Amino acid sequence: VSPKYQILRQQGLRPGRQLPVALIIGVKKGGTRALLEFLRLHPDIRAAGSEVHFFDRHYSKGFHWYRHRMPPTLEGQVTMEKTPSYFIREEVPRRVQHMNPGTKLIVVVRDPVTRAISDYTQVKSKRVKMPRFEELAFLNDSQVVDTSWGPLKIGVYAKHLEHWLLYFPLSQLLFVSGERLIADPVAEIARVQDFLGLKRVISEKHFYFNSTKGFPCLLKSEGRSSPHCLGKTKGRSHPHIDPAAVQRLRDFYRPFNQRFYQLTGMNFGWP
Ligand code: A3P
Repeated sequence: VSPKYQILRQQGLRPGRQLPVALIIGVKKGGTRALLEFLRLHPDIRAAGSEVHFFDRHYSKGFHWYRHRMPPTLEGQVTMEKTPSYFIREEVPRRVQHMNPGTKLIVVVRDPVTRAISDYTQVKSKRVKMPRFEELAFLNDSQVVDTSWGPLKIGVYAKHLEHWLLYFPLSQLLFVSGERLIADPVAEIARVQDFLGLKRVISEKHFYFNSTKGFPCLLKSEGRSSPHCLGKTKGRSHPHIDPAAVQRLRDFYRPFNQRFYQLTGMNFGWP
């Protein structure tokens, strides 16, 4: 318990729990953990540590249950959580709107081809045997993309976004570039702080680039005062994928990416 809360308790004031006012809704393997851990450097952000999955798995437990998954907050602090499956689940936008139509929604997006490979790498790491990526991505050894395969379906961002836009205005969504979150975390986090209406306090001083890992890491954070990177499951090396297969997937995603750039008004520059 932090000294701030201890003082409040001594004064007989108990900090309360609030429903989140902002959600990181996706995308899986986009860099959602990095974003959340970086945002937690902000004294006015309080976030649930693990993925809550309220709107997709635990909705029937009700808002009281949900609120109790949130950390205690002081007045003025922003409560948030991240569950990356929200972005792709059809039932979620309506439910979030029902909780609070003013909810701020953050989506970290990344080149859908790299995202699919990252997703595959994660599944493979938990299995003894796994077919090659190329075998799963195309229909029985053909060149036809298997759009029903989960890791590929998630990357059709325009389709998922169109569904959210039936329930929320574009101005309530913020799109974070997963690539820029690695290349320039401070700039990307500045956009998020602005979006949340918070002072820009997260700066270069919080980060260092760990060249062994090849990713930005934190000098210190809420819970730890020594330098540290995200865990071993974040920033894994990917298996080699046949370049022709990668090219076919790029061709497949191109029109969907264009549509996504059009909808968001942002060009993410994916190859
Ligand atoms: P890879 O492990 O495939 O490289 P998520 O947290 O949404 O599951 O996303 C995981 C991805 O976050 C990683 O995918 C990695 O590329 C990306 N990432 C972004 N910033 C990172 C950082 N500072 N440290 C480690 N991984 C980071």
